[in-house]
Amino acid sequence: MKKLIDKYGRIHDYLRISVTDRCNLRCVYCMPEEGMEFEPSDRILTYEEITEVVSAIAKIGVRKLRLTGGEPLVRKEIEKLIRMLSAVEGIEDIALTTNGMYLEKKAELLKEAGVTRINISLDSLQADRFAMITRGGDLSRVLRGLNAAVRAGFQPIKLNVVLMKGINDDEIADFIRLSIEKPLQIRFIEYMPIGHDDNGWRERYVPLQTIFNTVESMGLTYEKAEHVYGNGPAENFRIPGAGGTFGLIHPVSEHFCDNCNRLRLTADGNIKPCLYWDDEWNVRPLIGNEALIQDLFMRVLDAKPENHEMAKALSQETQSHTPTVRRMSQIGG
Ligand code: 5AD
Ligand code: SF4
Repeated sequence: MKKLIDKYGRIHDYLRISVTDRCNLRCVYCMPEEGMEFEPSDRILTYEEITEVVSAIAKIGVRKLRLTGGEPLVRKEIEKLIRMLSAVEGIEDIALTTNGMYLEKKAELLKEAGVTRINISLDSLQADRFAMITRGGDLSRVLRGLNAAVRAGFQPIKLNVVLMKGINDDEIADFIRLSIEKPLQIRFIEYMPIGHDDNGWRERYVPLQTIFNTVESMGLTYEKAEHVYGNGPAENFRIPGAGGTFGLIHPVSEHFCDNCNRLRLTADGNIKPCLYWDDEWNVRPLIGNEALIQDLFMRVLDAKPENHEMAKALSQETQSHTPTVRRMSQIGG
């Protein structure tokens, strides 16, 4: 039986699907303010095509999916795709990462369609700053979306916070306090150099050791939280007695590639074995032939590198492969 195991013994059971490269926001770390060119709709995989790919690889071990974008909720009637994916035998978990702007309207539908978990990107708790980082996002609307997701029964809900020096790193304490007050899982994420034609990433990057220093300067202690389901690379902590947790995702200062279990599918049908490097293979011409789809995934895994080299980007050392020129919005995180 074919199985998605690479040459380093890593078992792959997780596919992240970017369902669109479009977004209703323009977060500073993700997309340029203007001039982003989007894939024309005829180059984007249809819901039927995505479902076919997932059906093929569910038979060789994929169990978990995450829908990302761009912003997945800008794709028309995304709940239809979710229903189709929920019906695929072997798929046990369908998570979604969203900016939350359409969540108030969609939370209930997403739950009914079969989404199991939701992550919301939320980089600031200050309305004016949130609008600046996202170039047009409305914090109160996202918070209404968050509440709608809670009402719809999503539990736990994770908040993704990308820390940037001089932009939102003074809000660590506020996010920690939020993790005490609410049953939310705050996930601090190191700013990654993806698709950047150097725009000051190095100056903005904050290593996550800073979080512990902040917790200590707040006069608080922290303890390791039990494993949070579906948390992948995050290390989780809790302030004793808190309702929620906080997690650290530190791809740059300390990569977690040894345990990588994920593959990525872009909206235009490219399979990426690693978010960092430029290698990708287009699956679209093979759709209609399950065995060929499976074989391509196996070949992609064969070519999967042992790790990314974001740390070398920080220290400006020469890298062993070529980093991707795709933007994060075209990969989906
Ligand atoms: N570095 C770290 N995280 C990023 N995201 C988008 N771009 C970057 C980046 N350059 C995050 C988004 C979203 C998740 C999918 O990835 O905030 O929460
Ligand atoms: Fe859109 Fe998410 Fe990129 Fe922000 S990070 S521009 S919300 S895709």
